[in-house]
Amino acid sequence: MRKQVIAGNWKMNKLMGEATQFVDDVKGQVPSYDQVESVVVAPFPYLPTLVQQAEGTDLKIGAQNMHFEESGAFTGEVSPEMLKDLGVTYVVLGHSERREMFAETDETVNKKTHAAFKHNLVPIVCVGETDEQRENGEAESVVETQVKAALKDLTNEQVKDVIIAYEPIWAIGTGKTATAEDANAMCASIRKVVNEFAGSEPAEAIRIQYGGSVKPANVDELMSQSDIDGALVGGASLQPDSFLSLVEAGK
Ligand code: G3H
Repeated sequence: MRKQVIAGNWKMNKLMGEATQFVDDVKGQVPSYDQVESVVVAPFPYLPTLVQQAEGTDLKIGAQNMHFEESGAFTGEVSPEMLKDLGVTYVVLGHSERREMFAETDETVNKKTHAAFKHNLVPIVCVGETDEQRENGEAESVVETQVKAALKDLTNEQVKDVIIAYEPIWAIGTGKTATAEDANAMCASIRKVVNEFAGSEPAEAIRIQYGGSVKPANVDELMSQSDIDGALVGGASLQPDSFLSLVEAGK
């Protein structure tokens, strides 16, 4: 039985006061970590404060990106070790917004996934097709290529601990959610790909989230699907009440 992971990706939203108020509001109310992993994925400047606020509670804090190198002349970047040192638990890698706007590639996502394991961060690796690729019948092959590239050269033990977030790009921030059946079919197809190259144990263990216009009104149906093990949520994770409804659905 795989434990669900519900992560709220705030993207570039909220000021410090709003961020700390949010964590104060939800930290005592999220379900127990044994039942569901509830994660706030916050902008870099807020991470140290939010980690301290959430310490000892069932709420975990994640980052939205990181560099793959340990340190050096990379102006504006944040290293895996810096995140670990702050007490960050999860890191989102290869979000489609970073692939589209910040030159993230399959190769850098793979390097970052390796770096995450080196520093004991849990990687949430995002994959997903564009509208055009889906219309051309290429969705599964595009996602397969992204998954294989991201997991390249990981050990089977590491593959088990990866979280993959399947986010069809056409469903992000558009209000156009994939149907629960389509989302589940792609998550099952990802599991099959993992089975083919890493074997059945990692394939059964790996958690696969769905992301793309998830909200309290559709989360139950999505989370009840056989191959969907959680959600990566943008817009609907910004308000405490809505975030709490989402994490409840992961129980
Ligand atoms: O990381 C989250 C996804 O990009 C989904 O965003 O829930 O606003 O569609 P959304």
